[in-house]
Amino acid sequence: MEFAWRLHDQYSFALRYVLLIEYTKSVMKKIYITRAIPQTGIDMLINKGYEVDVSAKDGVLSKSEFVAALLKKEYNAVLCLLTDTIDREVFDAAPHATIFANYAVGFNNIDSIEAKKRGITITNTPDVLTDTVAEHTFALLMAVALRIPEADRFTRRGEYEGWAPMLFLGTDISRKTLGILGAGRIGSRVARIGAKGYDMRVIYYDIKRNDIIEKESGAEFRENAEDVLKEADFVTVHVPLLDSTRHLINTERLAMMKPGAYLVNTSRGPVIDEVALVHALKTGVIKGAALDVFENEPKLALGLSECENVVITPHIASATEETRGAMAEIAATSIIDFLEGKKPKNIVT
Ligand code: GLV
Ligand code: GLV
Repeated sequence: MEFAWRLHDQYSFALRYVLLIEYTKSVMKKIYITRAIPQTGIDMLINKGYEVDVSAKDGVLSKSEFVAALLKKEYNAVLCLLTDTIDREVFDAAPHATIFANYAVGFNNIDSIEAKKRGITITNTPDVLTDTVAEHTFALLMAVALRIPEADRFTRRGEYEGWAPMLFLGTDISRKTLGILGAGRIGSRVARIGAKGYDMRVIYYDIKRNDIIEKESGAEFRENAEDVLKEADFVTVHVPLLDSTRHLINTERLAMMKPGAYLVNTSRGPVIDEVALVHALKTGVIKGAALDVFENEPKLALGLSECENVVITPHIASATEETRGAMAEIAATSIIDFLEGKKPKNIVT
C-alpha cells in the first residue's frame, strides 16, 4: 500500500514536471531567423531563454517556404535579411511577431507602411557597418581607377612579359573631385577618406544639407544631383532605395558625367539603370564603374561582366568578420530590448 502511494507521488511529481515544462515552453518567447547569421547574435537570444529557430536552408527562403516556417509556431519576433521580402503575406503568417529586426542598414525589402499600419516595429543595423562599407567603397573606387582586378587577371593568365611604360595606365585619385550622392553616415565617411587621405575636393548632393560632411571634409553642397554628376571625377552613390531614388542614375544623367569619370555604387542596385550603365561603359560615355549591388540581384545586366572597365563584387560591402558579427549583436539586442519592453535603439518604423 505504502509502496503504491509512493509510486503515485512520483508519478504526479513527474506529471507536474512535464506540465511545467510545457507551460514554460508556451510562454517562452519564440524567435525565427531566416538564415544562419554569426553565432554571437543567435547565442544572445538563446541565452535569454528564448526558443530560437534558424532556417536550415543554406539559401534565401522562397515566399512559400518562409510562410510555411512562420506558420509552424507562434513566433514573437523575426530576424530577417535584406533578401527576404517582408510584406502583408509574411505579417499575416506571423500574427504574434510584433518586431522584425532586419539584418542590414537598408530596409527597402520591408513594406514599412504596412508594418506601421499594423503597429509592427522594424529595426535595422546602422553605424556598425559605416566604416566597413566606406572602406569597401573606396577599395572599389581605387580598384577601378588603378585597374587592379584587370591587371590581376592579366598577370595570372601569364601575359606579363616585363615592365612596359604603357602597361595598364590608370587614373590618379589624389586631388581629384569626389562627388557624393547621399550624405548620410556612409557617404560622409567616404567623403572623409577622400578628403583626408587623398586631398580630394568633395562635392555632394543630398535632400538636406549636412553640416558634418561640410565641416569634416570641406564638402561643398550642390543644389541637385546633376551638378555633382557634371563636376565630379568620381561619383559614389549612398542613397537609400526609394521611389524617388530608383534609376536616379539613368541614360540622361550618365551623359552628364565627364567622359573620364567613374561611378561607384555600394547602396542599392536599382538606384542605377544597369542596362543604361552597360551601354555607357561600352560606348565610352564614362570611363568605368565599380559596383557591389545590382539591379536584379543576383543577376547581372547583359554584358556587364564582359566590360573590362567595371569592377564588381557580390554585395559584400559590409562583409567583414567584425562587422557582420556586430550586426548580428545589434539585431539580437533590438529583439531583446523589444521583448523586454524597452524601446530598441534602431527603430526605423
Ligand atoms: C547591406 O546592403 C545593408 O543594407 O546592410
Ligand atoms: C546608411 O545608413 C547611411 O546613412 O549612409
